[in-house]
Amino acid sequence: MRILITAGPTREALDPVRYLSIRSSGRMGYALADAAVAGGHEVVLVSGPVSLPPVAGAEVVSVESARAMYEAVRDRLPGCAIAIFCAAVADYRPRNPADQKIKKIDGIMTLELERTEDILGSARSVFGFRGFLVGFAAETNEGRIHAREKLRRKGCDLLVSNDVSRPGTGFEALENEVCLHYADGREESLPRAVKTILAEEILRRIEALLPRHDDHGTALS
Ligand code: PMT
Repeated sequence: MRILITAGPTREALDPVRYLSIRSSGRMGYALADAAVAGGHEVVLVSGPVSLPPVAGAEVVSVESARAMYEAVRDRLPGCAIAIFCAAVADYRPRNPADQKIKKIDGIMTLELERTEDILGSARSVFGFRGFLVGFAAETNEGRIHAREKLRRKGCDLLVSNDVSRPGTGFEALENEVCLHYADGREESLPRAVKTILAEEILRRIEALLPRHDDHGTALS
């Protein structure tokens, strides 16, 4: 199957040398891409700036900003059976990025921010994606309630939540601890593990929920 995965942070320019971003190493998304390639899938990895080697066997599309990630996803989603949105997309960007490096001033400087594109939220409603849609949610409190609400609002089939307030898991860590929230109301917690193992577990569960296809894309009973 063709699978699109987003990974890593986005960077929202303030001027030519400064940006707003999120603490994401890209490890979770890259582990999912590795697992999908190993499982014989055709993988498109839309990645923000990370310091990881490219995933062998995947088409890697490197982007910087939320807008560029939005456009890359919009252009590559058609034909995908599964889309997994693991990227840590900045929710805001500077409203008027400067062409020149902004000079320091004494005292307080105020930044005006505007919302970035909601890529996951656009998958169904704007891009018309009909495949299996997986979102991630980085939560710090009331994770379960927020995750279920996000799953419903964004039209996901599965939402993977991680409590990013726990030391040693989530953002930038080698390990993660996630809870899977399914559209039918089921929930499943996966024990803390390295991201490569969790990626395989998550992918196995997604595959089990989808109809099987032969090498020519024909559905098998
Ligand atoms: O990269 P690592 O260091 O390995 O860390 C992994 C991770 C913690 C980044 C990952 O497991 C994770 O939780 N990714 C989602 C982080 C996030 O930004 O969550 P959110 O709750 O703000 O966003 C919810 C969902 O909407 C996510 O699927 C996100 O990709 C998507 N989103 C968010 C904002 C936006 N403008 N567009 C989006 O598509």
